[in-house]
Amino acid sequence: MKENIIPHEFKITKTERAEIKGHNSFLLWFTGLSGSGKSTIANAVEQELYKQKIHTYTLDGDNVRKGLNNDLTFTPEDRTENIRRIAEVANLFVKAGVVVLAAFVSPYKKDREMIKKTVKDVNFVEIFIDTPIEECEKRDVKGLYAKARKGLINDFTGINAPYEAPDKATITIDTTKVSVSESVEIILKAIQPKLEL
Ligand code: ADX
Repeated sequence: MKENIIPHEFKITKTERAEIKGHNSFLLWFTGLSGSGKSTIANAVEQELYKQKIHTYTLDGDNVRKGLNNDLTFTPEDRTENIRRIAEVANLFVKAGVVVLAAFVSPYKKDREMIKKTVKDVNFVEIFIDTPIEECEKRDVKGLYAKARKGLINDFTGINAPYEAPDKATITIDTTKVSVSESVEIILKAIQPKLEL
């Protein structure tokens, strides 16, 4: 089957798309435990980028799992498939000239390596929201840690499923030490040169 798929070369390039948008596009990948603050920070970063008239789109675990990935569970295999599909979607957006913010637990190093390969190294900004499990569990915004502790959720990251922290993320943020607005500042400062054409 695969040998019969021959990709078509389209004439408009990523560079040309970037020119009409006035900025480069790439992927901001937020990884961290559930409740670490990934979506909150991604959301705040996106609002600032919007003010700067940057074209953005956010992909978020809880939302994507209600649509495109509603057939997937939290087994290691399904998480890998979850991340593979998101990486492919993010890659399309990046090629289209959009800055993508993606907030997924993405607990496995090999899956995050796969994203980097899919979108290419230069387009991948890894942001580790390094909030300790004790703090995530204390916040327990969705009540999921309490459920997991009662044994009501299998494979819950940090409780009965692993989280493999990045060794050298592009940016690491400990939300017990840094506020949301400070996090936004750190991220914007780091990506400013990448936005420029
Ligand atoms: S990932 O591991 O496959 O990257 P993803 O980011 O899509 O996870 O989804 C994580 C979200 O699903 C969490 O924020 C949480 O609200 C919810 N969730 C439900 N069950 C689990 C579980 N077993 N482990 C982690 N998160 C879960």
